[in-house]
Amino acid sequence: MKVVHSSTYDVKIGKDSLQTIQYSSYSAIAILVDEHTKTNCLDIFLKESQINPKLIIEIHSGEEHKNLYTCEQIWQKLTTAQFDRKSLFINLGGGVIGDMGGFAASCYKRGIDFIQVPTTLLAMIDASVGGKLAIDLENFKNQIGLFKSPKGVYIFPKFLQTLSHRQIISGYAEIVKHALVADKDYWKLLMETSIEKLNWEETIYHSVTLKNDIIKSDPFEENKRKILNFGHTLGHAIESYYLDKEKDILHGEAVALGMYLEAELSPLNIEKKKEIQDYLKSNFNLVDCPSLEQLLPFLKNDKKNEHDNINFSLLNDIGSSSYNNELSVEKIKAIF
Ligand SMILES: NC(=O)c1ccc[n+]([C@@H]2O[C@H](COP(=O)([O-])OP(=O)(O)OC[C@H]3O[C@@H](n4cnc5c(N)ncnc54)[C@H](O)[C@@H]3O)[C@@H](O)[C@H]2O)c1
Repeated sequence: MKVVHSSTYDVKIGKDSLQTIQYSSYSAIAILVDEHTKTNCLDIFLKESQINPKLIIEIHSGEEHKNLYTCEQIWQKLTTAQFDRKSLFINLGGGVIGDMGGFAASCYKRGIDFIQVPTTLLAMIDASVGGKLAIDLENFKNQIGLFKSPKGVYIFPKFLQTLSHRQIISGYAEIVKHALVADKDYWKLLMETSIEKLNWEETIYHSVTLKNDIIKSDPFEENKRKILNFGHTLGHAIESYYLDKEKDILHGEAVALGMYLEAELSPLNIEKKKEIQDYLKSNFNLVDCPSLEQLLPFLKNDKKNEHDNINFSLLNDIGSSSYNNELSVEKIKAIF
């Protein structure tokens, strides 16, 4: 088992990780699942952890359920089952369960302890560190939320065996981002190893360590943590654009295209740009790019902007990045 120490909790990674969950001091335990993690992960989790929960709360999967209505249902169930302030809340699922379950636990009776057991690659390597919790408000993603640390994060890579290839590739986009913004040796390794051949335990450990180091130096995203936004200014705009369209796209799919475009905006030499863009083209099924006119309303609404410019985190080189790059709409137009 590998352990990454965040400032207030540990992220434990490996097949024995679930056996190390400390739960005996709690008055009662609830586990939050959706229909997929109930079918694919719950039995394994209960067997490995030996936990005997008082309550299993099942919600519908999907971003469209990451809202206050679902939180109310969770709070109702905890109240009916008389959960007190000494109880423990376990989030068994992807980023939706982790974000919303953490948020719901942090508000119930002014906050009860919670732990994260991420079951998607994205949640394992990205949502597992940083303490961000949130729900959506209508079409505004992560509009209501807070920073709060879990008691621990337990990553059991075997859960990935039931995850679809599409979801794996979506999570992989964030791994590629980690390499591009901060670690050129990691980039080399990814270039040389096909996704099918990656050792997930090692890869998850590497990405969690890298993200954790960045976050420790800037927990509230005031400076360096912003480099993790590479690919996300355009990526979020693309994701928002597709929200009410028939074609559904995953977060990582939008980020892969966002990285492709933001590499073009970056002050990189032509060879480096080509190396990055060729890799993205051959490893991701890049979605159709909306026009700049279609993306502008979302770009202008980005929380990071100041004045009339759009704020980007960009690459200076492979493994080296900068933040707070303010680009005018004219400048962005040049790459469309
Ligand atoms: N807090 C953070 O720092 C942070 C970081 C990145 C993303 N997020 C949030 O995470 C969410 C996206 O997370 P996601 O990509 O994990 O999506 P998700 O939680 O919607 O999970 C994707 C799908 O996979 C299913 N699933 C989960 N684990 C499975 C398994 N082991 N086997 C089979 N099916 C499984 C789920 O039921 C769901 O249908 C977004 O809401 C995003 O805002 C948060």
